[in-house]
Amino acid sequence: MTDIPISSQLTVGVRPSKTTAAPAPPCVLVIFGASGDLTKRLLVPALYNLACDGLLPKQCAIIGTSSSDIPTPVFRERMSTDIKKFSTRKEFDQSVWEGFVSRLHYTAGKFDDPAAYQRLGELIKKLDAEIGADGNVLFYMAVPPSVFGLISTNLDKAGFTDQSHGWKRMIVEKPFGHDLSSALQLNKEILDHWAEDQVFRIDHYLGKETVQNILAFRFSNGMFEPLWNKQHIDHIQFTVAETVGVESRGKYYDTAGVLRDMIQNHMFQMLAYLCMEPPSSFKPDSIRNEKAKVLDAVRVMTPEQVAENTVRGQYGPAKKADGTQVAGYRQEPDVDPNSSTETFAALRLYIDNWRWEGVPIFVRSGKSLWKRGTEILVQFKKAPEVIFRDTPEVGHLEHNQLIFHIQPDQGIELRFQAKSPGPLMALQKVNMRFDYREAFEASRGTGYELLIYNCMIGDATLFSRTDLVEAAWRIAQPILDTWAASSPKDFPNYEAGTWGPKAAFELLTSGGRKWLEVINRAVLEQVPLFQGSSPVFLHSLALMLKPVVFAPGDFVVTKGAPGREMYFVARGELEVTDGAGKLLNTLTAGSFFGEMSLLLAEARTASVRAKSQADLYVLDRTDFAKVAKDHPSLTRSIIEISKSRYGLTIDPDKLFTE
Ligand code: NDP
Ligand code: BG6
Repeated sequence: MTDIPISSQLTVGVRPSKTTAAPAPPCVLVIFGASGDLTKRLLVPALYNLACDGLLPKQCAIIGTSSSDIPTPVFRERMSTDIKKFSTRKEFDQSVWEGFVSRLHYTAGKFDDPAAYQRLGELIKKLDAEIGADGNVLFYMAVPPSVFGLISTNLDKAGFTDQSHGWKRMIVEKPFGHDLSSALQLNKEILDHWAEDQVFRIDHYLGKETVQNILAFRFSNGMFEPLWNKQHIDHIQFTVAETVGVESRGKYYDTAGVLRDMIQNHMFQMLAYLCMEPPSSFKPDSIRNEKAKVLDAVRVMTPEQVAENTVRGQYGPAKKADGTQVAGYRQEPDVDPNSSTETFAALRLYIDNWRWEGVPIFVRSGKSLWKRGTEILVQFKKAPEVIFRDTPEVGHLEHNQLIFHIQPDQGIELRFQAKSPGPLMALQKVNMRFDYREAFEASRGTGYELLIYNCMIGDATLFSRTDLVEAAWRIAQPILDTWAASSPKDFPNYEAGTWGPKAAFELLTSGGRKWLEVINRAVLEQVPLFQGSSPVFLHSLALMLKPVVFAPGDFVVTKGAPGREMYFVARGELEVTDGAGKLLNTLTAGSFFGEMSLLLAEARTASVRAKSQADLYVLDRTDFAKVAKDHPSLTRSIIEISKSRYGLTIDPDKLFTE
């Protein structure tokens, strides 16, 4: 065994197993906020998973506390009911659960009441004597952030920070502060009573296997690191898209918004992993030093730069394809009906250091979007086109793309170009893909297992340090300030279930770039034209389509203009009009248009305008010609459709005459 801490081995991708990781040391775990949502939904399932994997010590007692008066047997019953709903394991192991649940205890108490801490202390002492926890106690703050400071102060006053007999540690939930000054204040409040190495600030994204794998991928594979810089990388994108709205968390969310809730913490942590310099080892502070350095180098924006480099959005009501109504953010429970809170944000950031100077880093996240997905795209610079000058590919070389699929798809994909079979030097977009489900047993965790385990063994690698939290707030603060100084005039500015506001697309398209949308077979099969198509066809098409957003009233194509691309409607309503504005047709999800002028190289015969916000996929002429050549069935279908739609008879030999 090396002297690297076990958790660091886990961090680089070695799965915990009984041969590589031992159970954590004995301890009493106290959960503040045990009657709340986090405890039942994530903490207890994570602890149960640790028990199933043999990583929870046998000498471990768990005490839940909050202001509700719940007798221990009732608490155990509630957890036994909830685990059936929230367990992440394929099969439920009743015997492990029974052993686990017998270790759960509950004591009620208000967090500002000194007597509550005294009762807690007595219970800890009793349980420690029973199980032999050696004086080790871990406090988990599953409570609203407003009481983090209060609890940590009162714990110290009651003597719980004293480590003369066993360690005392505290896990602090997010959000850590509401802004830079409150984060500084909270840090001070906690560190006045606790030592930095006793405080574990959690970010559950760092417990995700796929996030940890960013480090393993970067630093265990020699081929990518030499390319990981401004010489070779065009830009980087981070996307965390959620389909859910704020659900029952309106009260909290309306004071937070997506910048505080997702970007300042989870997304900046991923950014740090992807962009930091190689650490000298996997020791906790080697990694955290590099993360702090890279976050420190992220350019802090002026108000003018905020206006130029950020987009915020809020979802509005929408109608689903099945006709049911989806609430807008302002109609959600506990949300101010005039709220200016952003539920979507997109940022263009720059890291001012030697490695990343001038490379735009795009970050976006939102609620109530069309599809759930967390992805990181690293787009490389294009190859020189000079050797292709005498081939049809000149002007059409694509960027290589490396994509980290964090969730729900889990894998890594490399997109590049290959020669398509035949006598010509014709290129086609292809990909190579590593899928977690094929390579490993699927991860069964909530993401909290490793974090709790690491805290128990005293490894802080996956937790945030004071300087890291502050560096992340320094980046977010001017954006929050500038946004607060000018209320958004256009909220709500995206419909629930779409790809977000149009302005977020323009943030990239102004530089000739596009957001990555992961388009897969399931998505394409919703388009009637593609139903029943071969997997090979759908796979090639998925790599070619590019997403684009139109706001109500925008023209997608105008009559008389040359046709350079065709469109597929993913969402929304569009009107087809003649030159005089007469309505000819209405298009909805699953429709496509623009194929005729593309096929025949003729001017557009009608205009198409978005009636509602519309999300479309574009297939450009070069790619269209490629799919049409390799999959003649597409051309045949379009010819048939044009006959029935427009009464046109098209000679296949006259296609692509331009
Ligand atoms: P809940 O509101 O569901 O639970 C809060 C808990 O704190 C309850 O047990 C409540 O007890 C207790 N509590 C609050 N104030 C007091 C007080 N003054 N005295 C005693 N008990 C008190 O919140 P969540 O569980 O959702 O969230 C907890 C923390 O975890 C928050 O910081 C949140 O940001 C974070 N978090 C939550 C996530 C989630 O999915 N839920 C995800 C990521 C982070 P009682 O009702 O008995 O008073
Ligand atoms: C939490 C946010 O931290 O992360 C939630 O408060 C968000 O708003 C959640 O939904 C997303 O986590 P995950 O693991 O589902 O991506």
